[in-house]
Amino acid sequence: MDTTSPATWYAREPGHDRRFRVRLSLSESLLRPTTAVTAALAAEIDRVNLYPDIECEPLRGTIALGLGLSAESVIVSNGSDEALLLAGLATVGRGDRVLLPERTYTGFGYVADALGTDPVLSECGLGGMDVEDFRRKLPGARLAFVANPHNPTGRCLPPGGISAIYRQARDHGCVLVVDEAYAEFAGSHFESAMPLVEGGGIIVTRTFSKAHGLAGLRCGFLAAEPGLAARVARTRRAIPFSVSRFALAGVKAALDRPNDLASAVTRNTSDRARMMADLNSVSIDHVESDTNFLLANLGSTTPAMALHLHEHHGITIRDAATLGYPHWARIGVCGRRLWSEVFPLLAARHHSCNA
Ligand SMILES: Cc1ncc(COP(=O)(O)O)c(C=O)c1O
Repeated sequence: MDTTSPATWYAREPGHDRRFRVRLSLSESLLRPTTAVTAALAAEIDRVNLYPDIECEPLRGTIALGLGLSAESVIVSNGSDEALLLAGLATVGRGDRVLLPERTYTGFGYVADALGTDPVLSECGLGGMDVEDFRRKLPGARLAFVANPHNPTGRCLPPGGISAIYRQARDHGCVLVVDEAYAEFAGSHFESAMPLVEGGGIIVTRTFSKAHGLAGLRCGFLAAEPGLAARVARTRRAIPFSVSRFALAGVKAALDRPNDLASAVTRNTSDRARMMADLNSVSIDHVESDTNFLLANLGSTTPAMALHLHEHHGITIRDAATLGYPHWARIGVCGRRLWSEVFPLLAARHHSCNA
């Protein structure tokens, strides 16, 4: 992994948004792409006159093999956002009931809204999603969305939570979509829904934007039992080349080097632990995270803090009031150097507010 500081990287990137120096507000990776990825991208330049492979091979086969699924079970998409939209397009229409947790990843609501559905919200707070409330509200829903680990809290569902939700959804004929965008970052207590895919009635989405650090390539995928995947594939015929040849080549190169992913995850885990320990040391409350971001309670100073970091340091953090969590900020996990710039500011502001 290239260890050039993110600040240097952004400053060098031509045409980037000059209003920020480093962005900790979008749960992106701060690591530069590996040379294996950049070489694969460079090799595609001479082929831009040609459409990418319509079935997204050989990437699709590589993903399926890694998951122990058939290639027919995997659909590669333009980020997992496209996978979520395809899942919705294939399963619901105007007026259908769609269940999603409140204060969750905004993409679920956008899909429900774009398709003219009737959204129903289940309870969700800092402690994570209320599994029982979600299960109670499943009857009558045709589609349900869950993020595990969750954004913006960063928490995983409790043990047994995902299988309990799946059983209830299947009993009521509701297709369950489980968004696992942050799966790679999660600890050993994380229970992936991938093993449930073959049972049918479930779509699991993943992305290469987060742990693989390839957000700009726009690539993700969904996994579903072949019959359900074929329904999704029919909707995808309307946008057959949505995944670019750069995305296919760059992601394939990344998957061929699993050690790079492992080291990025290890780094995230140790950076996240350092950040949580520092926040603890000055009694800034935060949610135990399984992702590449932290939700921290900066109190009523949150909007001012976010503004100060942005205007005076060129660093963006997310005021989580816009996500339904007033007084909390979502801060991307970052390395020691950047954190040593951000943390003293958070600590000083917190101290002066509580003095
Ligand atoms: C829970 C969750 N799902 C999906 C996405 C979208 O990711 P992608 O870049 O794959 O479209 C995000 C991005 O922040 C996310 O937080």
